[in-house]
Amino acid sequence: MTPPPTDASSSSAPAGKGPSDEGAERKRILTGIRPTGALHLGHYAGALENWIRLQQEYECFFLIADYQVSDYADDFPRVREAIFDIALDWLSVGLDPEGSHYTIESMVPEHAELTTWLSWWVPLGMLERNPTLKAEMKDLEAKSSVPVAFFNYPMMQVANILMPKAHLVPVGDDQLPHIELTREVARRFNRTFERDVFPEPEGLVGRVARLVGTDGNAKMSKSRNNAIFLKDDEDTVNQKVRGMFTDPTRLRATDPGHVEGNPVFIYHDAFNPDVDEVNDLKERYVAGKVGDVEVKQKLAKALNTFLDPIRERRAHFEAHPEIVRDALAHGSAYSREVAQATMAEVRDAMGINYVG
Ligand code: TRP
Repeated sequence: MTPPPTDASSSSAPAGKGPSDEGAERKRILTGIRPTGALHLGHYAGALENWIRLQQEYECFFLIADYQVSDYADDFPRVREAIFDIALDWLSVGLDPEGSHYTIESMVPEHAELTTWLSWWVPLGMLERNPTLKAEMKDLEAKSSVPVAFFNYPMMQVANILMPKAHLVPVGDDQLPHIELTREVARRFNRTFERDVFPEPEGLVGRVARLVGTDGNAKMSKSRNNAIFLKDDEDTVNQKVRGMFTDPTRLRATDPGHVEGNPVFIYHDAFNPDVDEVNDLKERYVAGKVGDVEVKQKLAKALNTFLDPIRERRAHFEAHPEIVRDALAHGSAYSREVAQATMAEVRDAMGINYVG
């Protein structure tokens, strides 16, 4: 990875066309993901779709949160691979790196600085009550010990969101407690220093807040091995759909089946644009007039149709890794300028420009 070109002159100049001036024209989005691997259908329906839709209206910061990669912070080759996989996925689904900023978190070390300051104003109890943190902590404890950094990652997420003064944070629903925390921290900061430095951001959850896994588990995730990835090829998708969990109470195609809560139909609803076909399948399923095989074949077809253009674009960008690298380098450099401008304001508000 080449280091970002840092343009210190524009970062501190209050006049002229710096990043903060451009941002003033459009409200900002900051959203992010941990670099744990390639993206799947759950990411798409839960968040990405909103990002794609909103990227014109808002100035978007898309963050790859490598400081927060708690699951395998000891495996940096894997983190590196995941960073590029995610950037490729983003390009492939049509997130435009010209209008938006692909950002690698650790290339903007101001995130770490802001986290340190903000952490002083948040009582530990507030984190201990955070339901998402609680659940993740339990998982971690079951596997190994909990690293100190894990406990502070929501604070870092707060710093991520406040850094570009984001107004909107489109995410999966498990992230909402962290956005609530961000609002609280923004309020505290503004109140303490009697300045309006940070806006209170809103969360926005996608069309399918939490997509069920192919195994019927409540959440699609790479670690549960129940995900269909945006980069899966046609055969892989066919095979994964063939193996999908359906209605466990239904033994024969002539048994009346359940549509509600049935992963195959949840996916049809989410990804098959042919509503008539889906309704017809549902009617026949409930009446015991269609087998799982046909339902699954039609689903695989719909998913492949949905994924085809994404795959095509991915192949193009895979053949041009310099585009991916540039998107990450330029986006991160821009974000760093924005971060330096915010940090100047933060220091000023706190009165810590000790020596002028
Ligand atoms: N914690 C988020 C997740 O696990 C990723 C993330 C990091 C994020 N920083 C963020 C999401 C800032 C939204 C805003 O998915």
